[in-house]
Amino acid sequence: MQTDVVVLAAGKGTRMYSDIPKVLHSLAGKPMLTHVLDTVASLDPQNIHLVTGFQSDLIKQHYVDSRHAQALHWVEQTEQLGTGHAVMQAAPSINDDAMVLVLYGDVPLIKPESLLSLVTKASESGIAVLTLNTPKPFGLGRIIRDANQQIIAIVEEKDASDEQREISEINTGIMAFKATMLKQWLGQLTTDNAQKEYYLTDAVAIAHASGVVVGNIQTSDADEVQGINDRLQLTELERSYQLRKARELAKSGVTIADTARLDIRGELHIGRDTCIDVNVIFEGKNRLGNRVTIGPNVVIANCEIGDDCHILANSHLENVVVQADCSVGPFARLRPGTVLKEGAKIGNFVEIKKSTIGLGSKVSHLSYVGDAELGALVNVGAGTITCNYDGVNKFKTTIKDGVFVGSNTALVAPVTVGTNATIGAGSVITSDVPDQDLAVARGKQKNISGWKRPAKIKTE
Ligand code: UD1
Ligand code: CA
Repeated sequence: MQTDVVVLAAGKGTRMYSDIPKVLHSLAGKPMLTHVLDTVASLDPQNIHLVTGFQSDLIKQHYVDSRHAQALHWVEQTEQLGTGHAVMQAAPSINDDAMVLVLYGDVPLIKPESLLSLVTKASESGIAVLTLNTPKPFGLGRIIRDANQQIIAIVEEKDASDEQREISEINTGIMAFKATMLKQWLGQLTTDNAQKEYYLTDAVAIAHASGVVVGNIQTSDADEVQGINDRLQLTELERSYQLRKARELAKSGVTIADTARLDIRGELHIGRDTCIDVNVIFEGKNRLGNRVTIGPNVVIANCEIGDDCHILANSHLENVVVQADCSVGPFARLRPGTVLKEGAKIGNFVEIKKSTIGLGSKVSHLSYVGDAELGALVNVGAGTITCNYDGVNKFKTTIKDGVFVGSNTALVAPVTVGTNATIGAGSVITSDVPDQDLAVARGKQKNISGWKRPAKIKTE
């Protein structure tokens, strides 16, 4: 059966105290709403109706160029008159023969399996709710069951009696319906409650009163249905999510120094016997091979790192390919477009941008290499700089196999240094160096014998 998904995201998010819409705040490096939309996409629904109101322009702007842009049907809820009212705004665009799944944009970690079970349940009787038993039910809608354990109503905290507030089973807010029945029940909602809102949850009592059995899926995973109302909840859900990811990795054959000090913001694939020290951050899509070691305080974003590499402390790598057996850092910065071929070594305080460092080549200390192509077995001495930018344009430096670049050399691009050439320390290289040659381009040393340094004259 076809499913129409309604994602509610019109709320103000007052308690975030933010200029950014709540659902665009990130969890694990990705907006909460994107987590929801990614999960929804995996269910392959017929339509996705996104109900926005507060700051809807900013939300639209965020998704206009995203992979979700095509699939989204935007529904405006100009006044936030409750969850029932929000669904009413989407109802006219929903086909009568569809199943309807209602989600919240601020419940980011909902799992596709739970949603599938919920929709299946709702397809039997017409309505199903996802609930959770929790020691902390405060502020949430309580599930009211009859003597036969059938769900007969959901009562909001503000409308609940003291006795009802003792109930520990809560409404996660996630529900599924048959479209025709939902539309009928929406028409019967009233604002006769403590908040003067149209509660979607009232559909439960209406369904029950008309003889419909209210289906139910219970989840035991509180994180999955955790809604975010303030930044403390966001931080705590982030930590819980990260801990879970780190534990999964540890169980899959990666050694992790401290599961509480690892952050994975995106997709990560790691081989066997790789070790990760403390305070490491992975962003975007990363792939690491076998027996890699990652030192403390390393940031790795959108990288591919081959087998047996060592990324030493305090290094930062972004959009980089590191082939097998390389060593990077400590304190190295590899910027986008960098490729390290097998066995290359990048040492401390080295910055590489959009350059290829050939097989077994070394840039060991205090260098900047940008827009350069280095061949195999090149040795770049300490303090070497490629002068790749004239203030307007960028130029390329080519260093062929076996070149030895002396310390403190400036290579003024465009320039090519031929195979096995040698450059004397302190040179400013402005023209090409032929194969095998020695290039020295610096002031000649002058020694003055008998030179006396000025001395201080003592005055009384
Ligand atoms: C709602 C449920 C409650 C449940 C809780 C779970 C109702 C009446 N209550 O309560 O039973 O335990 O969620 O978190 O449904 N929204 C709109 N338009 C509106 C109102 C809300 O789009 O007019 C959106 C919000 O942006 C949010 C979601 O709906 O994403 C839930 O709204 P919220 O105000 O947080 O609902 P609660 O009153 O907390
Ligand atoms: Ca809420």
